[in-house]
Amino acid sequence: MTTILRGKLLRWAGDPFEIGDAALAWDEDGAVAFADGRIASAGPADAVLAAHLGATVHTQPDALIAPAFVDCHLHYPQTHVIASWGAQLIDWLNRFTFPEESRFADPEHAAAVARAFFAETLRNGVGTVCSFCTSHPQSVDAFMAEAERRGLRAVAGKVLMDRHAPPALLDDATRAFDETEALIARWRGRGRLQVAITPRFAPTSTPEQLDAAGALAAAHPDCPVQTHLSENTAEIAWVADLFPEARDYLDVYDRHGLLRPQTVFGHAIHLTARERARLAEAGAAVAHCPTSNAFLGSGACDVAGLKADGVRVGLASDVGGGTSFSPFATMRAAYEIGQSRGRALTPVELWWLAGPGAAGALGLGDRVGNLAQGFDADAVVIDLAATPLLAARTARAENPAEALFALAVLGDDRAVRETWSGGRRVHRRADARDG
Ligand code: GUN
Ligand code: ZN
Repeated sequence: MTTILRGKLLRWAGDPFEIGDAALAWDEDGAVAFADGRIASAGPADAVLAAHLGATVHTQPDALIAPAFVDCHLHYPQTHVIASWGAQLIDWLNRFTFPEESRFADPEHAAAVARAFFAETLRNGVGTVCSFCTSHPQSVDAFMAEAERRGLRAVAGKVLMDRHAPPALLDDATRAFDETEALIARWRGRGRLQVAITPRFAPTSTPEQLDAAGALAAAHPDCPVQTHLSENTAEIAWVADLFPEARDYLDVYDRHGLLRPQTVFGHAIHLTARERARLAEAGAAVAHCPTSNAFLGSGACDVAGLKADGVRVGLASDVGGGTSFSPFATMRAAYEIGQSRGRALTPVELWWLAGPGAAGALGLGDRVGNLAQGFDADAVVIDLAATPLLAARTARAENPAEALFALAVLGDDRAVRETWSGGRRVHRRADARDG
């Protein structure tokens, strides 16, 4: 059975940091056809409709059909830590985050938060996430079971941490290794699930545990590695104290076999020139988390500079340090951070970072983040007239980029009419009617 969504269509023809607005492929009257969980075709509506006679067609008036968003760094256990006042990174971890993460020893708590988490991601049009869990394997089981139940593509890993946190959250090098191995055996490749090797960040792992993480990475080259890098100046000073032998923060991960193309580093704000060059050389990726960086007072990441240096970058919410599940809010914050650095990201760059950029960071650039034949049948239907202000502003837009920018600045979950995953509708705004 083939399903077609018809409306304005956003596709990608390249990377706007390389080819500018020509990266955006836009069809005023476009369509995407889903069959067997994949995209059978996408493009001008007449061609797609002619290729799939007899398909069920959902026409979406006043709507933009785009690839479902990808969020390449966030923490599902922090869903309810969001909006915790008054602290910067280390203090925020100790006061708010570690106490909440301790509760994930309880599988029922983990399952309840996983349900609430995916309800939020889907109502915000996010199709694929890459999440940290907690150090409890049961927190990963709860996340994966919920993603599997909903038929989603998702990446997640057990957080490895064996020092500088409450005892209830600490494992050790051997447990980190064994529990991650068991999770990989249990979940990798089941449905559209993937397990990430997840050392929290250098300060909460002993060198022995980082060695264990490196051994996991060597044993499982297909599993992404995710961690945090150079987010906060106090954190960086602490890392220099803890690892005096390392040249810089990135070198800590490099020395333990954790720097490779399949590594996604959250934040990467305060990098040296050497670190930037080494990131590019290794082909690793950066998850830019602008709402989190503003909220925790961490600093302003140089996204355009990283891209110019050849570093892969994707956009991420970093909930609960981040303040919103909405990719619109994340794009707006990325724009504002760019402005504060004197280089405003273009609308096409912002949308690319939230789709193909984030997918590419996860090594999923040929699976999600675009509407193209063979990609996962994951899409978001966006209501260009969701609010009176959005309707008025998008109506005045003289070109697609202007409408995309209005959505990034004014949009929120009200603009997400439907989210589709694996060819199935997995979220529909309460008042949305069938097209
Ligand atoms: N660094 C180490 N752990 C965390 C976390 O949970 N959130 C953020 N923003 N930074 C971190
Ligand atoms: Zn994070």
